Order: sequence, then C-alpha cells, then structure tokens
Amino acid sequence: SVLLALTVLAGCGQPESGASGNDVIKVATDAAYPPFEKQEGNGKITGFDIEVIEAIAKAEGMKVSVKHTGWDPLFEAIKRGKMDVGISAMTITDERKKQFDFSDPYFEAKQLILVPKDSKVKSLKDLKGKKIGVQSATTGAEVVKKAFGTTYPGLKGYDDTPGAIDDLANGRVDAVVADNGVVQDYVKRKLKGQFKTVEDQSFEPEHYGIIVKKGNKELLGKINSGLKKIKKDGTLEKIRNKYFGK
Ligand code: ARG
Repeated sequence: SVLLALTVLAGCGQPESGASGNDVIKVATDAAYPPFEKQEGNGKITGFDIEVIEAIAKAEGMKVSVKHTGWDPLFEAIKRGKMDVGISAMTITDERKKQFDFSDPYFEAKQLILVPKDSKVKSLKDLKGKKIGVQSATTGAEVVKKAFGTTYPGLKGYDDTPGAIDDLANGRVDAVVADNGVVQDYVKRKLKGQFKTVEDQSFEPEHYGIIVKKGNKELLGKINSGLKKIKKDGTLEKIRNKYFGK
C-alpha cells in the first residue's frame, strides 16, 4: 500500500546515530534500578543516571535518546554497536574493562544487604545456608560468590533487581544484595517499614562508570570531557543532591 511505502520511506530517512560524529547518542540502560533509572507509567525513562548523561551530552553539544534494554542485553547492544553508550549504575570492574571502555567514575557506591525488619542477620556471613537474591551478572552477585563460592546453592539470580526484591517480599529469599542507593530507596519508598538494611565490612567501595564499545575513543573522549565539565561547574553535585540529599 501507499501508506506502508511511505512509512518505510520515512523510516529510512531517520538519522543514524551509531557512527561517530553524530549529535544524537543512543543510550542503553536497564531502567529497573530506581532511583538511578526507572521507567515512568508513560514509558519515559528518568533517574539520576539519565540526568547525568543528558548533562554530559549537553555540555558537549550532543543530544541523547535513551532506551530500556535490560541488563544483559545492554552489554550485547554496546558490543554490537547497536547502542552507543551504556549508563546503568554500572560498577567499573577489571572484568568489564576487558570488554568495554569505561568513562572516568561519576558516582561512588557499595553493596548493601536488604532483609526483613525482624531478621537477626548482622553481616553476610550470617546468611550462610540461606537463600540470597541478586540480579544476575552484577557486583551484588559477585560479593555473594566471593563469600560462599561460585556454586553456592542458596544464590538465586534474577534478570532484574525488582524481581529479587519481590521474592524477598514474598518470602522466597531471605535477603537481597544490591547497590546501597537502590536498597535504601526501596526501604524508604516501597517497603514501608517492613525491611531494613545491613552493611558488611568486607564490601569494597565501587565506582560507577559509563561504557562505550571498546575502541570508541572519540565518543569516550567527549563523555569524559563532558563529565569533567559537569563535575567542575557543580551540575553533577546538584543532580546528586536532588536524588540523594547532602
Ligand atoms: N552496580 C552493580 C553492577 O555494576 C549493579 C548495577 C545494576 N544496574 C541496573 N541498572 N540494573 O553490577
């Protein structure tokens, strides 16, 4: 039909932003990690990370288009060049550095344990033999494996963090390990006094970074330059205060 042909033509006319030198960068995120990234009822993706990448882009005269890919698909999308940039409360790790190029750090975080309010758990060790929910392929999963072994039968992996937290609320797991900002947000906002957080001295500080496809030096340079600017002019701090207070 004519209409179909027109639609297809219009589709072909869309500017491509996968290549370097374009000013709309395609940003991938797992928008199920509030307050870093979440999807509003109307589909709009908002959050700390989204404001950070928008500010970086603006500082470099670029625009962003943000897409929810999920966590595992995010890494694939960057590797294949389908998306330009990944921002997703992603910890800079040696393992990931082998596969992607990371920006300079923009946020500091730590793992935190989420348990029911009446739990006697004081540290990760106390969860030995218990069921622990984590988002698969995250640093939360790593700290549990480090403590109890990579084949620990109590470790339950989920595609996203809300899935793990739902199962904690249903009693299917005894604890969830995830990033402090996210866990604290749940305790405050959603779980209304039923849950508490537990720290563990063995958890190391983590730093979030933004990834690009390995070797995309041009885009990485712009991101680091924009990041430097928003650190210097106070924009990053302003966004941080908006989401996490002082
Ligand atoms: N910081 C942790 C990691 O890098 C968890 C990040 C999960 N992010 C997300 N949007 N689900 O492994």
